[in-house]
Amino acid sequence: MEKAIVEKLIDTAIAQLQFSYTPYSNFKVGAALLGRDGKIYTGCNIENAAYGPTNCAERTAFFKAVSEGQREFDAICVVGGRDGALTEYASPCGVCRQVMMEFCDPESFRIILAVSREKYDIFTLKELLPLGFGPAHLA
Ligand code: THU
Repeated sequence: MEKAIVEKLIDTAIAQLQFSYTPYSNFKVGAALLGRDGKIYTGCNIENAAYGPTNCAERTAFFKAVSEGQREFDAICVVGGRDGALTEYASPCGVCRQVMMEFCDPESFRIILAVSREKYDIFTLKELLPLGFGPAHLA
């Protein structure tokens, strides 16, 4: 991936941390999802007093994008940490990986885990969700 795009996604994901609603865990997560249309769809985690309805940052970004008509994606950057401090990678939960599997090609979709512009790693969805079950299995 082009470095300028990676850095833009990292900056955008970090900027989302300010919107993260986390009165229960205080673990703040930001996401920046790159659509095939070139647009960046943003997301933060949104917690709930009943815990179960909590939505992860990644799914917030995906659902915003899909609800606006975008269904094809190239990459997502995810950042997060306790109190919003970025000390290690915030890796997508299993549910979010499955949502990615619904809309993304596991071989080419890139997941950028970052703590800063300088420290990040890029994974394919296939690496984070081997043998994933997706729409192709029902085709
Ligand atoms: N969280 C995310 O936003 N993304 C993930 O993939 C992992 C977990 C959020 C959910 C909850 O608000 C907090 O992190 C602690 O689990």
